[in-house]
Amino acid sequence: MSLPSRVQLIDVGPRDGLQNEKQPVPAAVKIELVNRLQAAGLCEIEVTSFVSPKWVPQMADNAEVMAGIQRQSGVRYSVLTPNLQGFEAALKTRPDEIVVFGAASEAFSQKNINCSIAESIERFAPVVQAALAAGIAVRGAMSCTVGCPYEGDVQPERVAYLAGLMKQIGVQRVDVADTIGVGTPLKVQKAIEATLQHFDVDHVCGHFHDTYGQALSNTLAALQMGVWNFQSSVAGLGGCPYAKGATGNVSTEDVVYMLHGMGIATGIDLDKLVDAGAFISGCLGRQPHSNVAKAILSKRSG
Ligand code: HMG
Ligand code: MG
Repeated sequence: MSLPSRVQLIDVGPRDGLQNEKQPVPAAVKIELVNRLQAAGLCEIEVTSFVSPKWVPQMADNAEVMAGIQRQSGVRYSVLTPNLQGFEAALKTRPDEIVVFGAASEAFSQKNINCSIAESIERFAPVVQAALAAGIAVRGAMSCTVGCPYEGDVQPERVAYLAGLMKQIGVQRVDVADTIGVGTPLKVQKAIEATLQHFDVDHVCGHFHDTYGQALSNTLAALQMGVWNFQSSVAGLGGCPYAKGATGNVSTEDVVYMLHGMGIATGIDLDKLVDAGAFISGCLGRQPHSNVAKAILSKRSG
């Protein structure tokens, strides 16, 4: 078993996490969250998305949030862009990386971005081209790589097919996402294996939601394949508005604790991260969805 000695985490809490909140979250709170995440040592933060405000009202303040964050050198700020309209709006806010997002299941593609997989790739191609021409990095999120809320199990061939299309249009790295958190380690490994037909392991990120409590096990399964890029949400925020019942990503606190316990470096200060999670959870009026955060907070107060 060869494990990576270092892991790069992308905190997607400000985007994947907060997009699913029903209550309005002020832009100032989102900005403060991003600032706290970078202060905790996160080098990659998914800040917001340039999607239709009718579809996802919570992300309507995208430009305000991007303008408000205090950028630090060495930190990569990414945003979601589903089409050229979103890309053009995003471009003005100087993201370091844009994310096109497709799905391995047709039904989810329709529900989430209102088009088929093939149509989505046609839409993404000019976005990818424009981003690369502007010197902006490009990531491709692949939803429903193990299961779909509408179609059930998703076969690895579907993942390989989507990964191949992403590669063809110039996407530089991809996220293997378990959108609804139904995956278990061997299924996740098969989805990653399918992706590795088109992307090398350095360009594959794990993105696991924790709906069924499998996300840490799935992270370990991916680590065992040499994957060293992962996405997670501080305080386990989130879900996807078009994946009913799906809860947040695995919490960044839980992943960091596990990795540090295994001797794998992340560059993240767990105490400061727990503070960032307590901050946003307090703003949302709840406890962090993170066992590690709860344990550390209770130890502190004891
Ligand atoms: P559509 O209705 O087919 O778009 O939606 P359209 O091109 O026909 O335009 C319709 C209207 O939307 C027009 O406005 C456009 O201007 C506007 P109107 O004339 O009616 O006033 N519009 C936009 N406005 C702002 N920004 C834009 C934009 N594009 C069109 N970029 C669309 C297609 C893709 C826009 C829509 O389906 C959408 O916004 N979907 C986003 C859904 C979303 O954000 N989902 C969550 C993120 S994905 C996720 O969470 C999964 C992930 O975490 C990985 C995982 O876990 O699986 C990444
Ligand atoms: Mg997600």
